[in-house]
Amino acid sequence: MRMYDLIHKKRAGQELTTEEIYYMIEGFTDGSIPDYQMSAMTMAICFQGMSKRETVDLTLAMRDSGDVLDLSGIHGVKVDKHSTGGVGDKTSLALTPIIAALGVPVAKMSGRGLGHTGGTIDKLECFSGFTTGISEETFVKNVNEIGIAIAGQTANLAPADKKLYALRDVTATVDQMSLIASSIMSKKLASGSDAIVLDVKTGNGAFMKDLEDSVALAEEMVSIGTMAGKKTAAVITDMDQPLGYAVGNALEVLEALDTLEGRGPGDFQEVVFALGSLMLQFAGKAGDDAKARAMMESVIADGSAKKKFAEFIEAQGGDAAPVFDHSLLTLAQTVVPVAAERGGYVHRILAEDIGIACMSLGGGRETKESAIDLSVGIVLKKKNGDAVEAGDTLAVIYGNDDAKIARAKELILGAYEICDDPAEKQPVIRKYIFAE
Ligand code: URA
Repeated sequence: MRMYDLIHKKRAGQELTTEEIYYMIEGFTDGSIPDYQMSAMTMAICFQGMSKRETVDLTLAMRDSGDVLDLSGIHGVKVDKHSTGGVGDKTSLALTPIIAALGVPVAKMSGRGLGHTGGTIDKLECFSGFTTGISEETFVKNVNEIGIAIAGQTANLAPADKKLYALRDVTATVDQMSLIASSIMSKKLASGSDAIVLDVKTGNGAFMKDLEDSVALAEEMVSIGTMAGKKTAAVITDMDQPLGYAVGNALEVLEALDTLEGRGPGDFQEVVFALGSLMLQFAGKAGDDAKARAMMESVIADGSAKKKFAEFIEAQGGDAAPVFDHSLLTLAQTVVPVAAERGGYVHRILAEDIGIACMSLGGGRETKESAIDLSVGIVLKKKNGDAVEAGDTLAVIYGNDDAKIARAKELILGAYEICDDPAEKQPVIRKYIFAE
């Protein structure tokens, strides 16, 4: 077999066989197929697409390029959750202790933030001492004893995807449906869970800007997961504005803690409950959505979800005192309101620009190596559909550097689209996607 012939075949619009896809991914992972041939292949895929069968084969070949985790030492049905990435998306922080408090084991791999989107691990590091650098043995022990452990992605999890994603990033071949779906699902399938719930974002702050594309991506991922033998479902959620009010690491932790106390923003709690409901049903803990929601409400009301979160932080070396006294979380000292320049109604808040404003304050990474300031961020005071008068506070900036604050202020003002006519509030949950 020669990579040259496979590139030619795909360029001509023909389907690659399972053997050809495995040959290509194995060769690319071990270095015998060079980057220039693989980038010609990804470009051919962008023009010609891939069939469902080819996409499944690509996913499985990338899953098998490294370790496939064995979570059989963990008791119960393991349900993983994945978000395609958004601004203000602190869902895992509130969702994982809620479902762990209800007896669903959470054995999760999470990532750090990059660009305008945040990462769960950075947020957890707001608790001093917290580490994801725990051994596999401690990981399994913590899930069995406490119900939750969160680790960083191991280096050898789907290494083909790591290499391919880096190549796609510099060859303008990221936004192809089959390539995105196989990239995400190869890592999820290698993470060893029994079932997968996906949060696919849609809107200006998401990978997929319109609903139709988001639905197609979700359908593709649900079908891959199902064909690989895992119960899989997706929820399409709104990213035409940030989720909740808080954007920035410590501020998002505060909002997640408020949610664990039953005082969270409505849109954020709705996303947590929609995903949590599917997880509880997949794990066999709830028979239907109404039962699942009542169970989640009960562990918020009796404080057990919050207690579970504190136990988890402590088990991974963190100081959990801020869980019970929020004033112990470190926030930036300079707090600057951003005033509306005109009145009207908020039609849109460009989530990506709010994410970039947070990054420019120092709260996000421009490159993988950048250091970040966990204390900075933005709290929105007006959201889509709200009425605004000139001079009203649209958002509040928490910063540590005047020049950065000035830049963030400009970005925030530019992110708010305010018009004269009233705007309807859109629901945060756009659609559910289940296996056919
Ligand atoms: N996230 C991934 O992990 N892969 C993609 O291709 C896009 C988003």
